[in-house]
Amino acid sequence: MSGMTPAYDDLVATVEAARSDRTRVVLEGVHAVKHALRFGAVPEVLLTPDRAALDALVAQLAPDLGRLDAAEVDGAAWERAAGGALPSPALGVCVRPEVDVTVLLCDPDPAPVVLLEDPTHLGNVGAVVRFAAAAGAGGVLVTGTVDPWHPTVVRGAAGLQFAVPPARLGDLALLDAVAHGREVVCLDAGGDTLTAGVLPPRALLAFGTERRGLSPALRSRAGRTLAIPMRAGVSSLNLATAVAVVLYAGA
Ligand SMILES: C[S@@+](CC[C@H](N)C(=O)[O-])C[C@H]1O[C@@H](n2cnc3c(N)ncnc32)[C@H](O)[C@@H]1O
Repeated sequence: MSGMTPAYDDLVATVEAARSDRTRVVLEGVHAVKHALRFGAVPEVLLTPDRAALDALVAQLAPDLGRLDAAEVDGAAWERAAGGALPSPALGVCVRPEVDVTVLLCDPDPAPVVLLEDPTHLGNVGAVVRFAAAAGAGGVLVTGTVDPWHPTVVRGAAGLQFAVPPARLGDLALLDAVAHGREVVCLDAGGDTLTAGVLPPRALLAFGTERRGLSPALRSRAGRTLAIPMRAGVSSLNLATAVAVVLYAGA
């Protein structure tokens, strides 16, 4: 027996179930909760181990949100819901928005869309979503196995998946079918020098996997290939850093 009240049991069970439920998003920490709420998420569950600490943080970081309607739970329930230590006093669950890749790619807005080919580091994917949101990108597509809504990715992105929709792209062939009018711009250290204003409107910016870079299949779809200049001897930038530089310096 956990010793928890039945009410705590239900709340904790909802968070635990959400961790393996692809229709739900787990929001870990005040920043993730803050951005999710600010960009339209409606939490099904919101927990805190310390009501006063949460109120003080929200008043400081997000006064626009007012007082959050979070249930205060005891330490044992909190640890179970958080799956271990979570230093920030907020934990939430909400419904995962459905993102239609075709609709996202067909959007006529000039903002670029970022495509990550088979990324492996959850932290990189989170950082890319955060940069993409800050720079006003139209979306983040990901091939491979990483779930861009994984709790660690959501935490790395500070919940900004709700500001810029990420989605899995199962098949590169889908790009050929739905990316009409979007030029695929590959980013690779061997490309032409990236300069301000060089990106075409609605660019689909393709970045390679951390170890191997871009696949021949994606390279063959490129309208052009651009490089962030680097000092001689430096092989490459970190994936998320490269995305940030391109979104800001190429616009
Ligand atoms: C860590 S790098 C991959 C390094 C890999 N060893 C390679 O050969 O490409 C991950 C991705 O970041 C992007 N990137 C990193 N440095 C870059 C640069 N200087 N110019 C353009 N893109 C870069 C590329 O899309 C690259 O595939």
